[in-house]
Amino acid sequence: MCGIVGYIGHREAYPVIIKGLKRLEYRGYDSAGVVLYDQGELKLCKTKGKVSDLEAKAEKELDTTGTIGIGHTRWATHGVPNDVNSHPHYSNSGNLVIVHNGIIENYDPLKKELIKRGYTFKSDTDTEVLVNLIEEIKKQEHIKLGKAVQIALNQVVGAYAIVVFDKQNPDEIVAARLGSPLAIGVGEDEFFISSDASPFIEYTANAVYLDDEEMAIISLDKPLAIRKIKDDSLVDPYVQELQMNLEQIEKGGFDHFMLKEIYEQPNAIKDTFRGRLRVAEGIVKISGVEDNLQKFMNADRILIIACGTSWHAGLVAEYIFEEFARIPVEVEYASEFRYRNPVIRPNDVVIAISQSGETADTLAAIKLAKESGAFVFGVCNVVGSSISRETHSGAYTHAGPEIGVASTKAFTTQITLLTLMALRIARAKGTMARADYYRYLQELELVPDLVAEALKSNDNVQAIAAIYKDAPNCIYLGRGYNYPVALEGALKLKEISYIHAEGYPAAEMKHGPIALIDERMPVVVIAPKQEHYDKIVSNIQEIKARSGKIIAVVTKGDTQVKALADHVIEIPETSDALSPLLATIPLQLLSYHIAVMRNCNVDQPRNLAKSVTVE
Ligand code: AGP
Ligand code: GLU
Repeated sequence: MCGIVGYIGHREAYPVIIKGLKRLEYRGYDSAGVVLYDQGELKLCKTKGKVSDLEAKAEKELDTTGTIGIGHTRWATHGVPNDVNSHPHYSNSGNLVIVHNGIIENYDPLKKELIKRGYTFKSDTDTEVLVNLIEEIKKQEHIKLGKAVQIALNQVVGAYAIVVFDKQNPDEIVAARLGSPLAIGVGEDEFFISSDASPFIEYTANAVYLDDEEMAIISLDKPLAIRKIKDDSLVDPYVQELQMNLEQIEKGGFDHFMLKEIYEQPNAIKDTFRGRLRVAEGIVKISGVEDNLQKFMNADRILIIACGTSWHAGLVAEYIFEEFARIPVEVEYASEFRYRNPVIRPNDVVIAISQSGETADTLAAIKLAKESGAFVFGVCNVVGSSISRETHSGAYTHAGPEIGVASTKAFTTQITLLTLMALRIARAKGTMARADYYRYLQELELVPDLVAEALKSNDNVQAIAAIYKDAPNCIYLGRGYNYPVALEGALKLKEISYIHAEGYPAAEMKHGPIALIDERMPVVVIAPKQEHYDKIVSNIQEIKARSGKIIAVVTKGDTQVKALADHVIEIPETSDALSPLLATIPLQLLSYHIAVMRNCNVDQPRNLAKSVTVE
């Protein structure tokens, strides 16, 4: 959900916008565009690719004069990255123009109604539907842009930060937000509108941050008007003088992208099930699954192929798919799968998991599976990525750009999506009782709030990190659904703090690793109140008997483990199958704080790349 830069004032808008879009590049994007207003005309240029590609294209074909303009960097959700799907988008009349960050969930029925009314569409985006909805309302009600935007947004379901302009009414720009950020820079006879303050901080430190369900009518001739979208009531603009520097703004006030992305997880998980988890109706609807439901229902086996953290998400999915849908699952390292001449049967369904959608080993494994006749479904975070195009079908996690090399929100949103898939398939196969199904839907809807609560353990985790930051080794233990979380916790620690760490199924300790335990070995044990709790308590006792230092992740209010462990970190209660989404949070924070205390490069750890596009 990437970047917006709008300007209305006394300067030439184009240079302000282009420089501002470059300030927003850190957020990750796939396309860029700009529209300028000058003497009654709108002039637009947009392209797939980088802001520098936009500049090159604009140099050839855009008259860049004008003191009003809007720029956009796109992180595609509906419609692959290409020139046509890039923003800004015109309305059919060419009078209105819009840029949008976010997702309009109900764009399809709105589009169908607009087509009935004679509207045509050039792009595949949800955004173009919104600008024509605004146009239709404006035309029908004979009202100004601001009112039309307000009425339209009350018909929209989804997340948005939008900026809209009407060339027939050029003295104002309209902005609105729900779920995607928008800041207004208040200068001397000029206003800036952007996703964060980085595009305008050099011009003014005075900022108004729109809250959710607020819209702004920005005009040089009138005071800044902010209204509630729901009831049109006026809101007093709170102008704050920013103290942050550019780098702090880019990281949303966090010290690192990784920490920002750890804290984005409640919203990222909400975006993953947005429009897909419909608790009131008791349904899960993922278009890629619906279109291929029979294949999943008739699958003799599900093969999951992935690398790294995505492979760990696949392991969680193995437990969930087998428990919910009773389909045998095998999880394969893509790098091994592609070379070992695997047995792949036509009735196998392959699920390829990849945040970047560009991992070479996973891509190669997909091609091998397709050659063997298997149906391949992709779970990716980047729309239009190689893997999303190579697979027969798929679904996006909608986690937003993940900048830190260490995957965090990718992991939790992958698990969320895979859980939704398993629930849908279990329902279709009748392998899950209706009551259990509804209970899971309700519990899943609560997860964002539970993750937010788990994040409150940050200070406690930071204090524990200070004690163990110089440990040469660390062991992570978990059982059942949380065995993969132990592996993931170990990977997080080693990849950003360079401490050697290993994850194990807790019961495996007695088959060798327990020889490692002594007073110098910190052992992180994931021990929430769930099935096998008594077994994991025994494992903790075995470690304690050998002087191991125990850091236990427990369910809030636990007393039994608390009496045994050296440190406890509490997470809220939830069902076993959903507990990985919560148990992983303190482990992400632990690795983060230890890495920071060891002065490691948290966002770009040594030897690592965000996307491993080579073998
Ligand atoms: C995890 O923190 C690492 N960034 C790495 O293991 C990553 O998960 C792996 O390279 C797979 O990447 P992908 O999900 O983009 O395919
Ligand atoms: N949903 C819109 C699209 O896919 C906006 C995506 C974004 O946030 O940039 O074009």
